[in-house]
Amino acid sequence: MVERDEGFGTGLAELMNPEVARNPQPIYSLLQASTPVFRLDGVGVIVASRAGVDEVLRNPDLFSSGVNAHDLKTKRPLIPLQIDPPDHKKYRKLLDPLFAPQRMKLLEESTVRLVNELIDGFVEADEIDFSQQFSTPYPSQVFLTMFGLPMAELPRFLAMKDGVIRPDVVVGQEFGHPDTEAHQQRTADSIYEYFEEVIDERAGAPRDDFLSHFLTAEVDGDRLTHEEILDICFLFLIAGLDTVTASLDCFYGHLAEHPETRRKLVEETDAIPAMVEEMLRWETPVMGGARVATSDTRIGEFEIAEGEMVMALLGAANVDAAEFPDADQLVFDREVNRHLAFGGGIHRCLGSHLARLELRVALREWHRRIPDYRIKPGAELVYTAGIRTLASFPMLLGPG
Ligand code: HEM
Repeated sequence: MVERDEGFGTGLAELMNPEVARNPQPIYSLLQASTPVFRLDGVGVIVASRAGVDEVLRNPDLFSSGVNAHDLKTKRPLIPLQIDPPDHKKYRKLLDPLFAPQRMKLLEESTVRLVNELIDGFVEADEIDFSQQFSTPYPSQVFLTMFGLPMAELPRFLAMKDGVIRPDVVVGQEFGHPDTEAHQQRTADSIYEYFEEVIDERAGAPRDDFLSHFLTAEVDGDRLTHEEILDICFLFLIAGLDTVTASLDCFYGHLAEHPETRRKLVEETDAIPAMVEEMLRWETPVMGGARVATSDTRIGEFEIAEGEMVMALLGAANVDAAEFPDADQLVFDREVNRHLAFGGGIHRCLGSHLARLELRVALREWHRRIPDYRIKPGAELVYTAGIRTLASFPMLLGPG
């Protein structure tokens, strides 16, 4: 069984080292050709084919998401990620309308402003750290805006997210080390405390923001309890920030070395939505999703025992030639692109429309103002496994 959790990437850190996270597609293809479903000691069953991954994601009764519920030192399962049917449906019924495409469109103007303010801060510089100065702060700032929280909370938000997702990096000690565990626990507790305070404040003076909606929204006549709202907020902090950061890190890592694609982003802004989808497919920033088998079962001929951990490799499913023609190439005008970068089945990403908005706006505004850039010579991009973020991305701006 997996002992630690990297958000959605549970167990992948054990399966994938940073070298694989940097360049995963060849490994995915290799797995598909040799062992599309296999058992990895200490991790569980790994599923790498599109058909197999679909089977796992589309059968929540057989493959439960109530897995590693406490690995992030949470008090209760995260809502809705770690909730199985039938309760899961109730939460999505309430949350889906809040994240619908039409509602997300309303955020476009403030998102454009945020991106441009960030770019203002470094557009004249020759060299920046893309991760520190752009891909990390940006999604958190969008979130603060949506939640009606002051921008001054940014450092606190980043500390909360990192302290719970990667306390090992923050503390400088392995997972399992008492200092790391203590830091993660302290951070998790502080997340509950923080949102408790904000929720109390909003309950007294509701506004037009997401938190106020959680307080008043009803499904089938029921309101969310105080604890349920906390469990949703906790998940948003870990689901909605690193994932967008990782997507930007992956996209720009590629773009920095592909001037022809950058030119397309500048010259054909109408093509940006399709380009985002194709880069999501190719890069699959969230490499996999974890489940646990609820009874003895099988995927194809491969037998799985009740209680076994099952890792659906989304990245591998996204380069499966059975689903995608020219699967091993970036094809920006695919007519059909049924990628699984946002997962699939009932747990498919709640924030996909928000993520798409953030990514499209970032690519459009950035390339309008900074069409040329490259990885600083000599710099090595070290991607984390599971969710493929970069701690540092030294970048030179300008034609060079
Ligand atoms: C490009 C950025 C993003 C990627 C690649 C991504 C990816 C994913 C994936 C793969 C899942 C499914 C996990 C599983 O089945 O185990 C998921 C679920 C989820 N995501 Fe995202 N996500 C992104 C952005 C966001 C954002 C911005 C939010 C903000 C609200 C968000 C909120 C959620 C939630 C709440 C779930 C759980 C849904 C459920 O269990 O019903 N995500 N995401």
